[in-house]
Amino acid sequence: MLKNFRMHWNPDSYAENARFVSDLGMPVVELLSPQPGERILDLGCGDGALTKGLLELGCEMIGVDSSPEMIEAAKSLGLNAQVMDGQELRFSDEFDAVFSNAVLHWMKDHESVIAGVWNALKGGGRFVGEFGGYGNVSTVVLAIESALSSRGLEVASPWLFPRPEEYQELLESRGFLVDSISLLPRPTLLPGDVGGWLRTFAHRYTSALPETERGGLVSEVIESLRETLCDDNGDWIVDYVRLRFFATKIYNNADD
Ligand code: BEZ
Repeated sequence: MLKNFRMHWNPDSYAENARFVSDLGMPVVELLSPQPGERILDLGCGDGALTKGLLELGCEMIGVDSSPEMIEAAKSLGLNAQVMDGQELRFSDEFDAVFSNAVLHWMKDHESVIAGVWNALKGGGRFVGEFGGYGNVSTVVLAIESALSSRGLEVASPWLFPRPEEYQELLESRGFLVDSISLLPRPTLLPGDVGGWLRTFAHRYTSALPETERGGLVSEVIESLRETLCDDNGDWIVDYVRLRFFATKIYNNADD
């Protein structure tokens, strides 16, 4: 999902620690309002759980993801899916809609993503998505960055969580009409503790340490967050913030 840094996704551990990601994707599917027969690109399709749902609604689906492991999992569901970096999309004027759930924050070159989506859409096509917006998981980011800093390490964030006005500006600069865009705080219940979340998603941070020291780092971060994020029932609730948008390719300039 990133240029230069290759995340290794394990579909089994993803299913165990991150199934909630697709489970919580229904509001953005509703915003997309997919119609039977529409040709739709699922940008960052992961293991294809939502792609399959859209296929079952009668859409013609193509999924792309930069992770070969996830694309294998998507193909095993019978989906049309291919390995492709969202920052280097190679489609032209062929989709009624591009849909994306919970991945655009991994593709830090937002301008390239938006340019590729513009090229992929037919005139009048919709780009509908949701991803981490400004302030997303900031409590966890602060805790892990501070644990690394106390070890003398500074690691660049693997994610970019923009403000709505920043993302709107990028969409409009490429020619999109932004029908709606907003930031939605969505405190999110994890399937386990925050350690599972860190092991699934924060490899860029944890891998700054030798393998033998990573367990200690994760334990320290879990303890530093317990009081803030873990409730009396032992449930871990993380401060997710969604950036949800609906944009339309308003014209099809043959010169583009
Ligand atoms: C998110 O969906 O907001 C997210 C997922 C993994 C890492 C960071 C953010």
